[in-house]
Amino acid sequence: MPELFETTVLNGMILKNRFVHSATNEGMAEPDSGCANERFIRWQEAVAEGEIGLMIPGNAYVSNQGKSRPGQIGVHNDATIPGLARMVEAIHRHGASVALQLTHAGGNMYVPSETGYALGPSDTKLTELPCRAMTKADIARTVADFAAAAVRARQAGCDAVQLHGAHSYLISQFLSPHFNKRTDEYGGSLENRARFALEVLRAVRAAVGPDYPVLIKVNSDDYLENGFTIEDFVPYCLMLEEAGVDAIEVSGGTHFSDPRYFCSRPEGTVPKEQEIYFKEAAERYRREVKLPLILVGGVRTLRVAEHVVASGLADYVAICRPLIREPNLIKRWREGDTRKATCISCNLCFGPVRSGEGVYCVAQERQRQKNRV
Ligand SMILES: Cc1cc2nc3c(=O)[nH]c(=O)nc-3n(C[C@H](O)[C@H](O)[C@H](O)COP(=O)(O)O)c2cc1C
Repeated sequence: MPELFETTVLNGMILKNRFVHSATNEGMAEPDSGCANERFIRWQEAVAEGEIGLMIPGNAYVSNQGKSRPGQIGVHNDATIPGLARMVEAIHRHGASVALQLTHAGGNMYVPSETGYALGPSDTKLTELPCRAMTKADIARTVADFAAAAVRARQAGCDAVQLHGAHSYLISQFLSPHFNKRTDEYGGSLENRARFALEVLRAVRAAVGPDYPVLIKVNSDDYLENGFTIEDFVPYCLMLEEAGVDAIEVSGGTHFSDPRYFCSRPEGTVPKEQEIYFKEAAERYRREVKLPLILVGGVRTLRVAEHVVASGLADYVAICRPLIREPNLIKRWREGDTRKATCISCNLCFGPVRSGEGVYCVAQERQRQKNRV
């Protein structure tokens, strides 16, 4: 029976346990250059020191046009490589592996753009910036940007890359009929909406070679009117499997869905006992897809994490918000303090990311201040 604290190998990448730090836009990088700084690196190192098996640092933008928020980490040019290399070194010191998450914001852009507009599958306006439909040349350039970014991540020493294909960023926008109104070969049927994701995946694979792990995070459902639905989810995963991805992380929701159905649903909107938000999607996946599955969303107890792995629901358990509050959570559990994570899933941690202040547990900080008074 698979166990949480056992070593596994994912296309050559050695993982000392089955816990994954799900990508978190830290909002701590240098505001203009997107380079890693000491604060960003120490943040990553703290989670690695807390004994995570796989660290997925936040969504690194692959081009200036693909940047979403202030303080976001970049992998858009060679100047970002030395900072990323220092980050990798700090994570490796504690025996964790690293997969850098690569992203393009699409229309989900909250920083000024050199062009004066965002680029997405179709004309729309999701933020202050109008979003223009990408031309075929824009698409080809963006596919190449993802491939170049993956090569930089590898040069920096990352053990893997993860494509951000969830939560209404560009890849997810192409997948979703809610955002994608195209009438050419990139819009309409699932095959057409998946074309951009598959082009990115194949270009990244060709650039890094067959022996380098390439992962992807996907939505199982957008929870949006006319969005990507769970009916398309397994067929899409099978396409990704055939195109050569090494593992899939399953999430759901978008920044434009009812907040109750965002990737990080507040406590109370799913049954209390159900820590695993995307259980149904995982069950469907297991019936048809052979690739390793990373399951994220709502895991708060060691007991549930153990159950996910031992029952075969997923191969890896990914956690985000609890590690913002308790970077040493996995170590604490392994050492026998198996109390529930103290994260209350209040989502206040999004605030300092949006403002560019840098992520931290706002609830915990408020409590500390109250205790001081
Ligand atoms: C502050 C914050 C930033 C996030 N940034 C990212 C991101 O950059 N990329 C990503 O794929 N998901 C991101 N997420 C979503 C998480 O990775 C995760 O899917 C979600 O929080 C559910 O997991 P949890 O219940 O363990 O927190 C973010 C979540 C939070 C709270």
